[in-house]
Amino acid sequence: MKPRVLVTAEVFDEVLEYLREHCEVEANLEPLSPSADKLRSQLADKDGVVCMLTDRIDDALLAACPQLKAVCNVAVGYNNIDVAACTARGIRVTNTPGVLDETTADLVFTLLLATARRLTEAEMYLRNGQWQGWHLRQLAGVDVHGSTMGIIGMGRIGQAIVRRASGFNMKVIYHNRSRLDGAVERELGVAYAGFDELMGAADFVVLQVPYSQATHHLIDAAALKKMKRSGILINAARGGVVDDAALIAALADGTIRAAGLDVFENEPRFNPGFLDLKNVVLAPHIGSSTEGTRLAMAMTAARNLVAALQGQRPPNQVNEV
Ligand code: DGY
Repeated sequence: MKPRVLVTAEVFDEVLEYLREHCEVEANLEPLSPSADKLRSQLADKDGVVCMLTDRIDDALLAACPQLKAVCNVAVGYNNIDVAACTARGIRVTNTPGVLDETTADLVFTLLLATARRLTEAEMYLRNGQWQGWHLRQLAGVDVHGSTMGIIGMGRIGQAIVRRASGFNMKVIYHNRSRLDGAVERELGVAYAGFDELMGAADFVVLQVPYSQATHHLIDAAALKKMKRSGILINAARGGVVDDAALIAALADGTIRAAGLDVFENEPRFNPGFLDLKNVVLAPHIGSSTEGTRLAMAMTAARNLVAALQGQRPPNQVNEV
């Protein structure tokens, strides 16, 4: 008998076809995640699940799913999953590293350029009929080329961002839990900096850390005060790494110049204070959202699930069971 699996939200036909070769599949076709109640009842008799970063997989849910053997997230981040609870129950957890690095780095640069050059504000100005003609200081932004980027979190995506920064002749400093090998630092052309040093020296502070208790509100009011007043904050990593209320206050009173954000606390009910500000560029968590990359992510999760249900260690298992 084939193992029974759930796909919690809309994916791609290719992914469902692949899963159906190996499993009996129940697939939700709606784009958004199911309610907690629906998820619990659908998962109760399943051996595995392909889930989204918007599905909360906690111990209470696991307790209602005695057959569950694998939880395969369609995301590189997996802070929606209680990994310790899965491990305690012998459930494998997987993510989708690698396939989204370049796409996410592209979006970071999109946000960075758009924020530096005030693109959203400029478009609104034009669309609202405010454009009376060219003038010298109109919507003046700041230069990206030749500036200093400070990256907090230097994993694969951070390194993909560095490669883009070199094309803009930017100086890159970074802060990370563990320092990169000297040879890797030299190859990338980056210098290690302490947190305070980076916050004070960077023209663009780019966050690339996962969300955890350790990174909760890493960027709070005190951290924002360490930035240059001309500094720009870019976050396409995870909401919760930034204290959004503190950021709104810092953007409103000029503690920092601007921010480009793809992620928020309490998505999708983000703090409406952002909407009153012109000096912030906002996107709805689309960092990895290209057709090719989202397909690759979903297929990676499906392959992880099939491997796990065949009793193999999936390529992207994040826990030890
Ligand atoms: C991830 O993979 O964690 C991203 O946030 C998805 O866009």
